[in-house]
Amino acid sequence: PPLDDIWDLNDMQIAAKNVLSGKYYASYRTAALNEYTYQANLGIYSKVKINGFAFRDVSNLQTSTTILGYNFSYPFFIAPAAEAGHANKSAEASLASAAGKAGILYAPSISSTLSIEKIAKAGLEGQVMFHQEYIWSNTSQVVDELDRIKAAGFKAIFLTIDNTGVNGVRTRSMRYTTGSDAGHAANFDLNSLAAFRNLTDLPIVPKGIKTWQDALTCLHLGFPAIYVSNHGGRVLDGVPTSVEILLDIRKNAPEVFAGMEIYADGGVRRGTDALILLALGARAVGLGRPPMFANIWGEAGVSRLIDLFSQEMKTSMQLMGVANVNQLNSSYVNTNAIDL
Ligand code: FNR
Repeated sequence: PPLDDIWDLNDMQIAAKNVLSGKYYASYRTAALNEYTYQANLGIYSKVKINGFAFRDVSNLQTSTTILGYNFSYPFFIAPAAEAGHANKSAEASLASAAGKAGILYAPSISSTLSIEKIAKAGLEGQVMFHQEYIWSNTSQVVDELDRIKAAGFKAIFLTIDNTGVNGVRTRSMRYTTGSDAGHAANFDLNSLAAFRNLTDLPIVPKGIKTWQDALTCLHLGFPAIYVSNHGGRVLDGVPTSVEILLDIRKNAPEVFAGMEIYADGGVRRGTDALILLALGARAVGLGRPPMFANIWGEAGVSRLIDLFSQEMKTSMQLMGVANVNQLNSSYVNTNAIDL
């Protein structure tokens, strides 16, 4: 369908389902086991009530923010997702250029279709991108990739820690392939994390934090940020959503919010979903599947996604009575309906 007929991120998913082969659509859409966590990611935002304040001046809306000290025009970003080439020949290049033109962050997956260097080249002059990495069991591969990531100009590493030992069991995509993916290393503990930190001087942000205890560990280890995520429900089914994890951190380890930046993702499909995560203490919010689907139109699709999503966000900010994304806090949401 023509992009002019696309009005939200859900439209983009429906279009992608119609256009892509069953196998490739499944590779993007799939999630683990019963997909309870996948569904909960989408549903949790309906349990959070948003407070809309009148009597506030919202004539000068500010959506820009910093992530690890770098300036971006919006507090949402394109999360790492493998194999963008299944949707479009341009693969990660269209994600990089659309992000660059809109001034948002993109962090490509280490399992991308295009090479580290090609993705970097697709960005604009001066565009800040981060890069995702795993702790592969082959250390020389990690060293090589980290060196290439740095040489290509990426500014930080999202170190994904949640499917390291084994990967999730994803029935929907297993029907098209031979089985579930292997994990990335056989063994993974605090020693491997410490060893990884010695391999690069780029800032490292552990991605896939799902408990307040792990969040606190990362604070004590001196990481500059953490990335709260259940991997879009693709790894361990049954784990909580980012909304619940952020509330849990607030309850049990509130010092984490003061000590480091927190990014979060999972099921974000509306501007209001992002505003909820920001109000609960996230500094920036990731979109995983939606940009992959938008990429069936290439860069134009990803740009339209960013336009539609940011417009939803701005309108909702006005209606909430908050002029600046950095003023969002827990007074803008009511989470009484969520049991912790
Ligand atoms: C992912 N995700 C992911 N994460 C990561 O750290 N490295 C990766 O290579 C991938 N690959 C990947 C592929 C696909 C197709 C998807 C959908 C997701 C997880 C991703 O970064 C993010 O955490 C979730 O996708 C967020 O949930 P939503 O926005 O998809 O609901």
